[in-house]
Amino acid sequence: MLNIRKAGLLFLAAIILSVGTIRADEGMWMLPLIQKLNSKKMTEMGFKLSAKDIYDINNSSLKDAVLHFGGGCTAEIISKDALVLTNHHCGFGTIQKLSTVDHDYLQNGYWAMNRDQELPAKGLSVIFLDRIEDVTKAVTEAMAAVTDPKAKDEALTKISDQLTAKAIGDNKFLRGRVVSFFGDNQYYMVITKTYNDIRFVGAPPASIGKFGGEADNWMWPRHTGDFSMFRIYADKDNNPAEYSKDNVAYKPKKFLTISLKGVNQNDPAMIIGYPGRTNRFMTSYEVKETSEITNAVTVLVRNVRQNIIWADMDADPKVRLQYASKYANSANSYKKSLGMNETFAKLKVYERRAAEEKIFSEWVAADPARVAKYGKALDDVKSAIEGRAKLLQISRYYMEALSSIELTTAATRFGPQVERAPREGRGGGPGGAGGRPFMMMSPADYYKDYNVTTDIKVAKALIKLFREKVPASDLPEFYKTIDANYQGNVDAYVDAMFAQSVFTSEEKLKAAQAGDKKAMESDLAYVAGRNISTAFMKYNRDLEQYRTQYANGQKLYIAGMLEMKAGQAIYPDANSTMRLTYGRVLNYSPKDGVIYDFVTTLDGVMQKEDPKNYEFEVPSKLKELYNAKDYGQYAMKDGRMPVDFLTNNDITGGNSGSPVLNGKGELIGTAFDGNWESMSSDIIFEPLLQRTISLDIRYTLFIMDKFGGAGYLLNEMKISK
Ligand code: ARG
Repeated sequence: MLNIRKAGLLFLAAIILSVGTIRADEGMWMLPLIQKLNSKKMTEMGFKLSAKDIYDINNSSLKDAVLHFGGGCTAEIISKDALVLTNHHCGFGTIQKLSTVDHDYLQNGYWAMNRDQELPAKGLSVIFLDRIEDVTKAVTEAMAAVTDPKAKDEALTKISDQLTAKAIGDNKFLRGRVVSFFGDNQYYMVITKTYNDIRFVGAPPASIGKFGGEADNWMWPRHTGDFSMFRIYADKDNNPAEYSKDNVAYKPKKFLTISLKGVNQNDPAMIIGYPGRTNRFMTSYEVKETSEITNAVTVLVRNVRQNIIWADMDADPKVRLQYASKYANSANSYKKSLGMNETFAKLKVYERRAAEEKIFSEWVAADPARVAKYGKALDDVKSAIEGRAKLLQISRYYMEALSSIELTTAATRFGPQVERAPREGRGGGPGGAGGRPFMMMSPADYYKDYNVTTDIKVAKALIKLFREKVPASDLPEFYKTIDANYQGNVDAYVDAMFAQSVFTSEEKLKAAQAGDKKAMESDLAYVAGRNISTAFMKYNRDLEQYRTQYANGQKLYIAGMLEMKAGQAIYPDANSTMRLTYGRVLNYSPKDGVIYDFVTTLDGVMQKEDPKNYEFEVPSKLKELYNAKDYGQYAMKDGRMPVDFLTNNDITGGNSGSPVLNGKGELIGTAFDGNWESMSSDIIFEPLLQRTISLDIRYTLFIMDKFGGAGYLLNEMKISK
């Protein structure tokens, strides 16, 4: 698919790389398959590790030092006493929860000066990978016996339970699940071990950990010190245990050696982590849907909501802390959607996918056996996507707009507790935007981060916006109340709802729970919340038939692509299982006439400093260290202090916090972002533009040691100079 434009870029790349034939490295590879698919290439590129050094189920290997952190991130063990390194934005929610306006660890940073000062992070857990096994044969055989499509899910659950029960045996610390790969064409069983007593050890202030804020997010050149540190605790037998004062630091099977040798252009670099979701087999129809429906709705609604929240955060430090995590999560996806749409257009992603589909269709048409097998694949995808357009659009508005109103969501969540004894599994539509799974939150946790006056403004704006965007026949019931009782005046309705509802504060909620079981039917927020979730579930049900049709088409399409490309090394889409990506340290050219260096330094932090802009403040202690050039053993050879660097590894959300390792498997950095020029990367890997942005480990240790005064932690690490 090398077209003229790309050929031009390739020529440019040859100049930048000046290393001739070496190409950039696409692929999120499964660890058990490295020997077969990647080892040869990796050795050629300068990696000194064997496949068994990376993944071995009988001996300790690198995979034992890599963790699935808090559900959505990656982290790594960097000391003999299970010190854990991840991104600041991965620890963000936990750090926020541990903070108060008087002890604001987000704002000021924190360092435990001994084990007693390590702060228990309730609700946080890390997951180790024990092993991953191909169970495609067992699963497909079990599924083949089932003809009724409705019984398929059940059959899958049954065979998964059987397989995992057998694998785990009587080991009560292990858990297992079966995961689909290549659009249900392959299945693997993942066996894991979870530790729950995790403690917060330290992090820089946001002015370092989140330096550049939303302005710099998803962009290079970058100067963010995006890291935080935790520690895993275990019982005296080194096994997982709930928090206890008697627990001790976990003794890891494997921890990473840290390299202070730094990075140079073209150095080999690999990343092991937990990429969440990619869609590398996405068709042109879905590209259009993602751009015109999913991303468009996200951008439109979040812009309105975020502006309201940001104004309140800016005006009040309490609100700033309360909404810090919700805002960051929302803003991160907002900017991702915006960038993705821009890049779709720039890189002609739709056209390129349409061209690939044409090649596929021609390949299918060339052979009657293929026609019989794959002939319907693309048609199924196309008609599912086109058939669901209107429904999907409405359901996205429900999700993004109405479900972002905190009061009605809280009413749906806590209402049943007031109305009658709590029930399990009461459906509640999609949870609040971002942050921890809302459905698991206690009222205390929930109301700690709730500001009623902000929510009133959000509710007014989003209820109006929803009415503008969604056909009258698809509005939830409560709009009739607005028209009948409030002459269509949304503001009056929202004011009445907030004045009257018991869900505006923890005190009122408690009082309602303690008093007579109130008739919830008179609580406007409860009623609206129910209307929203009922409607949302209806749209979800209506979408089901398209989901099935799409899944069938996609499964065939991917199966066909695998057959068409047989003999080539192909990796499955990311699905929150552990993957490896290998590549090199590499600069890039964002546009004609411009080359971006692969490294940034503290000089750039000073150049960006803006005391009047919250996102670009520089702490005075950092300025002192900068002025004195007091960098200790962490400086580069030329005396500058490195901050972030670029590699061409293939990562996505979920990889945040992943270890970046050199050719010997030593830790050189922590991955934390992607770059603006390749925001369509979940769909197409763009060799010349796609880069991973990582934090140099030398900056991490410099901040911990020289800035944070926690140099004592170096004693438990293994440093290679
Ligand atoms: N863009 C990063 C990612 O998705 C997250 C960065 C978080 N920082 C922020 N300013 N919101 O992996």
